[in-house]
Amino acid sequence: MARVFVARRIPDFGLEMIAPHCELEVWPELVPPSPDVLKEKVKDCVGLVSLLTDKIDAELMDAAPQLRVISNFAVGVNNIDLAAATQRGIPVGNTPGVLTEATADIAVTLLLAAARRLGESLIDAKEGRWLTWDPRGWLGQELAGRTLGIVGMGRIGLATAKRLYHGWGMKVLYTARTPKPEAEKEVQATRVDLDTLLAESDFVSVHCDLNPETKGLFGKSQFRKMKPTAVFVNTSRGPVVDQSALAEALRSGTIFAAGLDVTDPEPLPPSHELFSLPNCVIAPHIASATVHTRNEMARICAENLIAGLYGKPLSFCVNPEVYLSKH
Ligand code: DGY
Repeated sequence: MARVFVARRIPDFGLEMIAPHCELEVWPELVPPSPDVLKEKVKDCVGLVSLLTDKIDAELMDAAPQLRVISNFAVGVNNIDLAAATQRGIPVGNTPGVLTEATADIAVTLLLAAARRLGESLIDAKEGRWLTWDPRGWLGQELAGRTLGIVGMGRIGLATAKRLYHGWGMKVLYTARTPKPEAEKEVQATRVDLDTLLAESDFVSVHCDLNPETKGLFGKSQFRKMKPTAVFVNTSRGPVVDQSALAEALRSGTIFAAGLDVTDPEPLPPSHELFSLPNCVIAPHIASATVHTRNEMARICAENLIAGLYGKPLSFCVNPEVYLSKH
């Protein structure tokens, strides 16, 4: 029977779907296997379920000569060398669509928390610094009628914009490689260049993929172009942001606050300077963490894996060119 390695305990729902189709091994720990252990685990495998924390590179693929499918338990696939997979004829699956709403919820949650100084005020209340009702205390930014800048108007960017357009009547600006007619119709969004978006937005929410073009997209000069009252939110990938530049912008008042669900590295060490800044709210990459969403991710991930085991096209394949090279 085909051997499959699942690099973490994904929801049972997915494991139960996969089990009848293969000889299954599931990594039992909370933390990922080291690259060497992963290499050892996949060496006789036909299928691999990977997570965003597992680096799947050419070396790993070469250590698994029978590998016929990689199913990533995530929509983002920046942990996988796609060119190397395609070259070796290995289709790579991901889980798009099902985490859109949950991720947009967290983008809005972080935006609100950062704008309304929720992180620091909760701690102040708990730690005895709530001395009275303070007319000048914990003053934040209002949302209603202000301008939202969406960087990367894909599914999640649009779902975030919809919440803030319909809920708070925000004006929406966006950047994207191509115009997005749906966003222009549904939330009256206007496509602008990044500099215009930074200068005019009160809230900047990042939703682009991590790729060579977006790595370090937000650095010193981008934060300097933003308003001193601006709130910055990142739910995409940590390396899109130069974190030293962000820390400096938050410390100096170049921008008002930030809400992050992703960092570089993950986990971010508790001693990191961003954790010491009261105007920075940091969540441990929980955007897709709802029961419904994680079960749906497990379902799609299992379906992709099973299709790959039987040599069938994956429902959600990020390197479909792999099929052209095969036929
Ligand atoms: C993904 O699937 O890429 C998300 O970051 C997980 O929350």
